[in-house]
Amino acid sequence: MTLQGKIAVVTGGSRGIGRAIAEGLADQGAKVVAVYRGSKEAAEELENAVTGRGGILKIMQCDVSDEEQVKALFAHVESDLGPVDILVNNAGVIHDDLFVRMESKDWNKVLQTNLNGTLNCCHAVAFAMMRKRSGRIINISSVAADFVNVGQTNYAASKGAINAFTRALAMELAPRGVTVNAIAPGFIETDMSAAVRNRAGDKLKDFIPMRRLGQPSDIARVALFLAGDGGSYVTGQVITVDGGLSLGPPPAK
Ligand SMILES: NC(=O)c1ccc[n+]([C@@H]2O[C@H](COP(=O)([O-])OP(=O)(O)OC[C@H]3O[C@@H](n4cnc5c(N)ncnc54)[C@H](OP(=O)(O)O)[C@@H]3O)[C@@H](O)[C@H]2O)c1
Repeated sequence: MTLQGKIAVVTGGSRGIGRAIAEGLADQGAKVVAVYRGSKEAAEELENAVTGRGGILKIMQCDVSDEEQVKALFAHVESDLGPVDILVNNAGVIHDDLFVRMESKDWNKVLQTNLNGTLNCCHAVAFAMMRKRSGRIINISSVAADFVNVGQTNYAASKGAINAFTRALAMELAPRGVTVNAIAPGFIETDMSAAVRNRAGDKLKDFIPMRRLGQPSDIARVALFLAGDGGSYVTGQVITVDGGLSLGPPPAK
């Protein structure tokens, strides 16, 4: 158990990639807070699954786009468990539409959740991590920041900003022993990618050199690396985990 006793917070921990990361951290001995917004049942199911096998995982409700809720969340975590060692900013949404049709509410929702949510949570832990001279921050970005899709101006902007924010924050926190990195997943089989997967069917795999979609566990393993001893001298990086998607489509079979 490489993360024994560490305190970890995973936003969007109720489902998909966040759930896999939360489970992985708990299985490595961390005391995990999985933050959900609306999926209470899924969060409770996760809590039961992890505690049932002897892990420590609590669920807490919070909308990460709301600064006051985030402050209250981290105050609660600190008083309940102690200062946070590992923060995973995973909560994210898509509201796709062509730019000319996109309403400001769809732009704002995506930026406020994906970008401001990350900022709010980093703000809540950064000072304490600096004082402790240790900490790991892992932001979940997307290959869609650089390999853009039609209908995702808002999403691409949010993830591109997360990449830039990750590098800039890493530079500020590095002298205090705090690492800040991002993971940029490709197509991962979760609820978020369901619409694209349903539309494209098996053809989607033809765009991926490894000829398979990613699983949440593929991302969780990289997050565990960054959170653990392996990541101790890695900071300011955006690590792409996409089965080669960003290399471009492989030659036809
Ligand atoms: N799936 C992919 O192919 C893919 C590819 C690249 C990047 N990503 C990124 O990976 C991350 C996780 O995506 P996923 O595929 O696992 O998505 P998902 O299955 O749709 O899960 C999204 C998670 O984010 C939470 N969430 C959304 N808005 C929130 C808010 N305002 N406050 C707190 N939690 C909030 C949801 O909580 P509730 O259900 O409780 O509301 C849920 O746990 C996202 O940042 C996404 O952009 C995904």
